[in-house]
Amino acid sequence: LNFGVSRERRYILQVLFNGLRRLEYRGYDSAGISIDDSLPPSATSSSSSSSLTSISSSLLVFRQEGNIESLVKSVYEDVAATELNLEESFSVHAGIAHTRWATHGEPAPRNSHPQTSGAGNDFLVVHNGVITNYEVGYYANFIILCGLPSKYFQVLKATLVRHGFTFESETDTEVIPKLAKFVFEKANEAEGDQPVTFSQVVLEVMRHLEGAYALIFKSKHYPNELIACKRGSPLLLGVKELNEDASNGSTLHDSQFLSKNGQPKELFLSSDANAIVEHTKKVLVIEDGEVLHIKDGGVSILKFDNAKGRHGAAPSRPSSVQRALSILDMEVEQINKGNYEHYMQKEIHEQPESLTTTMRGRLIRGGSCKAKSVLLGGLKDHLKTIRRSRRIVFVGCGTSYNAALASRPILEELSDVPVTMEVASDLLDRQGPIYREDTAVFVSQSGETADTLNALEYASENGALCVGITNTVGSAIARHTHCGVHINAGAEIGVASTKAYTSQIVVMAMLALAIGGDTISNRARREAIIDGLCDLPNKVREVLKLDAEMKELAKLLIAEQSLLVFGRGYNYATALEGALKVKEVALMHSEGILAGEMKHGPLALVDENLPIVVIATRDACFSKQQSVIQQLHARKGRLIVMCSKGDAASVCPGDSYRVIEVPIVEDCLQPVINIVPLQLLAYHLTVLRGYNVDQPRNLAKSVTTQ
Ligand code: G6P
Repeated sequence: LNFGVSRERRYILQVLFNGLRRLEYRGYDSAGISIDDSLPPSATSSSSSSSLTSISSSLLVFRQEGNIESLVKSVYEDVAATELNLEESFSVHAGIAHTRWATHGEPAPRNSHPQTSGAGNDFLVVHNGVITNYEVGYYANFIILCGLPSKYFQVLKATLVRHGFTFESETDTEVIPKLAKFVFEKANEAEGDQPVTFSQVVLEVMRHLEGAYALIFKSKHYPNELIACKRGSPLLLGVKELNEDASNGSTLHDSQFLSKNGQPKELFLSSDANAIVEHTKKVLVIEDGEVLHIKDGGVSILKFDNAKGRHGAAPSRPSSVQRALSILDMEVEQINKGNYEHYMQKEIHEQPESLTTTMRGRLIRGGSCKAKSVLLGGLKDHLKTIRRSRRIVFVGCGTSYNAALASRPILEELSDVPVTMEVASDLLDRQGPIYREDTAVFVSQSGETADTLNALEYASENGALCVGITNTVGSAIARHTHCGVHINAGAEIGVASTKAYTSQIVVMAMLALAIGGDTISNRARREAIIDGLCDLPNKVREVLKLDAEMKELAKLLIAEQSLLVFGRGYNYATALEGALKVKEVALMHSEGILAGEMKHGPLALVDENLPIVVIATRDACFSKQQSVIQQLHARKGRLIVMCSKGDAASVCPGDSYRVIEVPIVEDCLQPVINIVPLQLLAYHLTVLRGYNVDQPRNLAKSVTTQ
C-alpha cells in the first residue's frame, strides 16, 4: 500500500512482480496476483483462454501455471486485451501476489492463489501453509461472531457446501475466502446498521482454521485495506516511510509509528525478508496469533493469547498490542546473482567468504600465554547446562540434518556427552523420547522448516533445553529456542543448500569446542582444530580450483542413471550430502552409503558400469576405506576416488580410476573440504543435463508445510 503519494498501476505491478521474483525460490509451480480495477465492468471483458479469471467491479485476479515470468507475460497480455490503463494513478492501493509450491491440487490456474470466495471476488486470500480441517477432521465449534447462535459442523468444506458454496479448486485454501464471505454475510444480517469490520471477519475465520498458515486477505468490501495473520508459517511486515532514506535505521519512534497515521509510506508483507529488503530495512516479525489490520496508513495489531487454538480449542478473545520495528541486517547485493549464472554456483564459490563471516569474532587464538578458545555469545549462559545434559539430540531435515551428522563425532569426542541424531519428521512420527535433562539442538538454514519447528515445540513441551542453529535472524527457530548460534552465512537462495551446510559444520565444530573442557590432555587437539578453522577459508579456496576438473567429470557422467557415494566416519555425512546434491538438482538417482555397510547389500549393485565415488581422505578410517576400494576393485567397480593430496598413487589400485585430490585439513573439518567437489559436480551435471539449477523440480527452499 502507499499513502500520501501517487503511484501508477505500472509501478504497483512492478513491485508485486519483483516481490514474487525474490520469493520464487520458495515455490515456483504457479503464481497469481490481485490488483484494483477502477474501470467500470463494462469496459472490460474476459476471454476463456486468458489468465484473467474473473473481473469484479473492483478487484482483478490473474492466475497462471508455471513460473513468475509466465504470470508476468500473461498479465501484460491481459492488460493489453482489456485496455487496462497502466498509467492510472492510485494514492492508496492494496495488491496481493503469491508464488505456489503445490500441496493440495496440481499446479493449475484454478489451484493458484489468490483463492477467491467465488464470483464477484468478495474476499481473496493468499496462503502459505496447510489447513488441516478443510475437508476431513473432527467437529469444530462453529460460533459465528456478533451474537449468532452456536452450531456444530463437521468440517469446513462440507459445511460451506451445505450453505450453498461451490468449490472450484482442489486446494485447502479455498475454504478460507469462502468462510470469510459466509461470516461477513451472516454478521451483517445480524448486525443490521452496524457493519462488521474486516478484522472482525478475519478473527472469526481464524477461530475455525486448524493447521499452519500465513494469510493475507483482500476484499472488495474493504477497499484499500489488507488483513494479515499467521499461525506457524512465517510473515514479515516492512515499513518504508517515503520521506526518509530506506536504510535509515532510527527506531526512536517505531512503537508509536505503528499507530501513527498520515505519514506518506509504503507497507510490504512477505514470507521472508528477501522481498522487502530492496524497499526498506524496517520490519516487524509477525508472531503467531497476531492479526494486522492495515487501513488509512495505519497498522493495528490484535493478538490471540492461545494462538494455536489446535484441535477445536477456541482461541481466547484478541487484545490490542504495540510492537516495535526491528532493522534487517542484510543487503540487497546478497540476494543478487552478481557475476554468476546461478545462485547455486555463486553460493558454492562464495564459501571462503561465508565461512570467514561464520567465524568472525568467535575464534580467540590468544597470545603466547592465552589459551586458544571459542566464544559463542548466544550460548554463554547455557554452556554449563549443556555440559550436564543427559544427551545432546540433534534435530534437522535434509542438508541441515547431514551437517549435524558430520559434526557428531567431534561433539562426542570433545563434549563427553552422548550425541543422538533425529530427522525431525521421524522424531515426531515416533514421538521419540525427549527428556528434561536433554539438550535438543535444532539445525535449520531457514529457521522455518515446519517439521523442525514442530519437533522444537515437542522438545520444548518435554522440558529439554532447546538450542537453535540457523542462518535466519528473527526466524521462528531463532525466536522459539532458549539460546543458539546464527551461522551468518548470508542469504542462501539456491534451493540446494551449499554454503549453509559448510557454515553449519563450522558452527557445530565451534560448539564442540565451547562445550568441551579445555584440559591438558586435549589442548593440542583443540588448538589444532582452531588453527584448522582459521585456515579453512584458504583451503576451501584451494579446493574450489577443482571446478574445471569437476565439469569434465560431469561430462563423463551426464548420461548415467545412478551414482553411489561411499563414505564413513566423518565423511559418512559427506556421502549422504553429496548424493543429495546430485539427486535434488541433477535429477539423477544417487545414494550415499555408509561404507561399513557395503558388504551387507550395496555390493550386489557393483559392476563395471555403475559409477561409484569413494571418499578415502586421511583420517582414522583411512585404512578401512583402502580396503573398501580393494574390494570394489576386485569386483571391477567403476571408481571415482576422493583422496588427500599426494595419495592418488597409493590409494588407487588401477590406473583407469578417476581421482579427486583434495587438501588435507584437521579430520573433523575435512567434511567441509570434501563436500565442495561434490557440490561442483552436482552443479555441472545439472547444467549439462539441461535442468534448472536454482529451481529443481518439485522442491522448495523452505518447506513450511508438513
Ligand atoms: C528443504 C530444502 C533443503 C533443506 C531442507 C531443510 O528440503 O530443499 O535444501 O536442506 O529443506 O531446510 P532448513 O531450512 O531447515 O535447513
